[in-house]
Amino acid sequence: MPVLPSGVTVRRIGPGDAASLNALARTDNVFDQDPATERWGALTPDGARDFLSDPSVLFWLAEADGQVVGFLHCYVQRRRSSGPWAELLLMEMGTHADWRRRGIGRGMVAAMEAWMKENGVAEVWVPANTYAAGFYRKCGFVADEGEILVKELH
Ligand SMILES: CC(C)(COP(=O)(O)OP(=O)(O)OC[C@H]1O[C@@H](n2cnc3c(N)ncnc32)[C@H](O)[C@@H]1OP(=O)(O)O)[C@@H](O)C(=O)NCCC(=O)NCCS
Repeated sequence: MPVLPSGVTVRRIGPGDAASLNALARTDNVFDQDPATERWGALTPDGARDFLSDPSVLFWLAEADGQVVGFLHCYVQRRRSSGPWAELLLMEMGTHADWRRRGIGRGMVAAMEAWMKENGVAEVWVPANTYAAGFYRKCGFVADEGEILVKELH
């Protein structure tokens, strides 16, 4: 298990943690590559509870003195064919800009991997941005064949 900075803990949050999820949303720009980015905006309390009740949502927070210093959000995707029942899509993660390069990202990935081992999931993939690709490589991710494409409807 990687060593977290002193005082930092990582925990998986659930439906009772809607307030923590929305506290993160109020400052989520400082978890972005560019803190000048617009914040995404919080869900309603009911919306946050529904989000965290979804069994396909896995969400971890890294905290220090009750403040969020990192988050990792992934989805459980069931597979239609033989082999492990599901794989994970690592949707987004971020470490607070003041806390980077101190092992928090690696610690959150380790928490996700512990969940994978406990739940018989062998593969996780991430649509990585260029800034974070080096971090993911350090955590053992490798490039896959193909491209990730996206389409936005207007
Ligand atoms: C990517 C990110 C989550 C890494 O978090 P972090 O807490 O700084 O990561 P760690 O301190 O655990 O770093 C683990 C290792 O990766 C390396 N690393 C961290 N960020 C890196 C980066 N951007 N590029 C290359 N290597 C990086 C560290 O040096 C460390 O290496 P070491 O163990 O050999 O010393 C953080 O930079 C971040 O929040 N970025 C902005 C949001 C973002 O890009 N999210 C990913 C979206 S796909």
